[in-house]
Amino acid sequence: MNYRHAFHAGNFADLVKHAALLQLLARLNREPGPLSVIDTHAGRGLYDLAGPEALKSGEAEAGIVRLMAAPDAPAEFAPLIAAMRKLNGAGPPRRYPGSPWLIAEALRPGESYLACELRPDEHAALHDRMKGKRGVRALLADGYEAAVAQTPASGRALILIDPPFERSDDYVRIVETLAAVRRRNRQAMALVWLPLKDLETFDGFLRDLEDAEPGPLLVAETRMRPLTDPLKMNGCALVLLDGPADMARVLGAICGWTAETLGQSGGARTYRL
Ligand SMILES: C[S@@+](CC[C@H](N)C(=O)[O-])C[C@H]1O[C@@H](n2cnc3c(N)ncnc32)[C@H](O)[C@@H]1O
Repeated sequence: MNYRHAFHAGNFADLVKHAALLQLLARLNREPGPLSVIDTHAGRGLYDLAGPEALKSGEAEAGIVRLMAAPDAPAEFAPLIAAMRKLNGAGPPRRYPGSPWLIAEALRPGESYLACELRPDEHAALHDRMKGKRGVRALLADGYEAAVAQTPASGRALILIDPPFERSDDYVRIVETLAAVRRRNRQAMALVWLPLKDLETFDGFLRDLEDAEPGPLLVAETRMRPLTDPLKMNGCALVLLDGPADMARVLGAICGWTAETLGQSGGARTYRL
């Protein structure tokens, strides 16, 4: 496991994922009944944009730094911008929130959040960050296994799946996990993040997912450049399982702005399966 999210925190893919996550949580918070959230690949929870990893990659500079300075960002980014202001005040963007920070902040009394992380050093940082937060547990565990074992058998649940895709079996494990989670709880929703490298891999994943029939799917692609070099991350995709109806419009706005403003001859596409 070589992947370290500190190199990538605040890049275009984080903006898409975290803006979408906050919009989804805001909608779920308006509905009655407590929500259980499981984050299969949580990371450390908070990132230092002035640290050596972020400075070396320059990805945050091309992502969150540009969003914070943009005069034309759509309203769908407002909750992420507000989270950045809460962490950084009016100063330059230095701290960037990971999914654990964002989810823990959105949690209401009586709700629960299980954050899974497999790397001991990242888990230790996550555990420290989440200490004392009501309803939150940080587990040193395989997130796919934990999601299947710990999704409540009834009630509202949201599973966030955001693997590093270092291993080729991530695609298969996502499909198996979503199918198993939905067998356990038909009310469970899921938000999955995937890289867009080449279309064959992504289309193959979507076909396998449709065959597993977990439920209604919304797909949002953010293409940062034409998908001509499969060795590069040319964009990213979100797959939302059984989410609120207006998330198609929301994801269209988030992905569209990101591709047009931060990308090079890319584009965005949102469709249902
Ligand atoms: C893309 S990062 C997660 C970023 C985080 N979701 C966020 O939005 O802030 C992926 C993380 O998954 C961890 N990881 C890799 N394989 C895992 C597994 N099978 N179960 C749990 N965590 C895993 C990596 O160590 C890494 O910290």
